[in-house]
Amino acid sequence: MLLGALFRLSSAAWRHLSRATATRRPPDRRRAVMTNRRPTIELRAVESSTVRENIDRAKHAEREGRWADACGIYEALVRDPGANASTRLAALRWLGRAYLEQGNRGAALDVLEAAVASADIVGSPPAVAQALNVVGIVYQVGGDLDQAAAIYAAARAKAELAGDAALIAMIDQNLGTVAMIRGDLRAALEAFRLSHLGYQTLGMRNHEAQVLNNIALAYMELGELGDAETAYNLAAEAFEEEGDRARQLDLAVNKVQLYIAGRRFDEALAQCEKLLTVAKDDSAPWRGEVFRHVGVIARERGDYARASDNLLKAEEHALESGDLLLRADVSEQLAEVYWAQKRNREMLQSLNEAHSLYSQLKAQHRVAQVEKRNGALESRFLELAKHWGDSIEGKDRYTQGHCERVAFFACVLADSAGFNGRSLFWFRIGALLHDIGKIIVPMEVLNKPGKLTDEEWVIMKRHPEAGLELVADIDFPGDITAIIRNHHERWDGKGYPDGLKGEEIPFAARILCVADVYDALTTTRSYRPGLTHARAAEIMRASTGQFDPELLETFLDWAETADIPGRPTPQRLAIFASSATA
Ligand SMILES: [Fe+2]
Repeated sequence: MLLGALFRLSSAAWRHLSRATATRRPPDRRRAVMTNRRPTIELRAVESSTVRENIDRAKHAEREGRWADACGIYEALVRDPGANASTRLAALRWLGRAYLEQGNRGAALDVLEAAVASADIVGSPPAVAQALNVVGIVYQVGGDLDQAAAIYAAARAKAELAGDAALIAMIDQNLGTVAMIRGDLRAALEAFRLSHLGYQTLGMRNHEAQVLNNIALAYMELGELGDAETAYNLAAEAFEEEGDRARQLDLAVNKVQLYIAGRRFDEALAQCEKLLTVAKDDSAPWRGEVFRHVGVIARERGDYARASDNLLKAEEHALESGDLLLRADVSEQLAEVYWAQKRNREMLQSLNEAHSLYSQLKAQHRVAQVEKRNGALESRFLELAKHWGDSIEGKDRYTQGHCERVAFFACVLADSAGFNGRSLFWFRIGALLHDIGKIIVPMEVLNKPGKLTDEEWVIMKRHPEAGLELVADIDFPGDITAIIRNHHERWDGKGYPDGLKGEEIPFAARILCVADVYDALTTTRSYRPGLTHARAAEIMRASTGQFDPELLETFLDWAETADIPGRPTPQRLAIFASSATA
């Protein structure tokens, strides 16, 4: 049996590298296992009936996902003096694969290394190649792609030496999956084509179809939809010839993605409806994915109620089956629905959920292009944060661009304080969102030219906590919530809402406070023109007890000479003065 076929593609993201084997467990379609199960027929001819029965029992246990049972039988076979040497060697390899299925990579490697060594001792290049292939899989599943590729290459060399064309095709398929995880789609295509050619020559139609499916996925990701469709059609033909109904359906689910990518929504929806009719009883493992597709189609057509409804159904399936990838995809799609509906809070929540799930998947090294997916999500985060910040500013006509400028100033300071790329990104999001709580402040208070009354101050001072309430149920990375809640604390403890003092105030909030006040002073307000840097610096230095002194000096040093777009100049101030008196 062969492995390494990629069976799903979500919203232009690579799906799990999934097992595509005749014996795979149905609910586990998308696991990244590249196994190397040889037909046992040749063994049967030379083995005793007990040994043959044991092999059959183990294979049966595998099909049912009873890996512990399979391990027990293989362990006994390895030690069985009644089994011949080649069977014991194969049992060692199968045992390694079964350990891997159980998530025990250490044990898998021990056993497989023993299998390689034994095969070497008996001088069997095919057995060495097969065992090495599975060792490669262990490394791939463990996320060590360099090691996996090196071992596959060694396995391939041995397979060539042995003239084992089927094994070569299998290894090429695995090399293709590694290239896909790395995002090298052209290399992946090349490896898959080689693999396809190998299977074609051998007349292994089912395996040929699995690789064609992978080829289609690679073309999809490259946006070459015509070539993807051709590959899907060829794969469908082969699965049909083989009477492989399960894979025909898998393929049909993948093809919906192609229709959606080509904006062929009628065909996509018709295909989804057909699939849902086939899987009426909820048992089809891809049912959740079909709901996701229906949700995406509805969203594309502007039917947001139907979109949410179907995406939530998909999420339910994903939660039930523990499918992290589907959950991540669904959250990402829900975020887009909320974006279209301008439901900022829900969008933020879904984006954060998707981001955290993709990060978990990245840690598992099972999904290709996760970096790219998260990169796209992060752009969305920034868009949303700017948009949300803007919508607050829209209420306050004197603070146009305030959030973005504050974020810029704050990031300069955070950068100099040693925030790295990741923490700086989340810090920036927090800085953009720092005033979202102002949504509770009435427009006339925000835009009031004169001093606020005591009652108005009470409302205004509630904005940090109101902001926090908006994001309370979102588990953000970094200090976002601290920025929102504590950006009006003072170094001397006289700020709000918590009256924190000195280093009790979260560092990110102290930075934001400096940036926030500097921007407020240097931009034009309803009651005065923007101040020059020198004047703003003077006021901030005189405001003893408000700022972290060290951060304030670092910032003012930088701001004194920095080229800040929109900084008030004598000319700009003169224009303001003349328009104010006009
Ligand atoms: Fe504020």
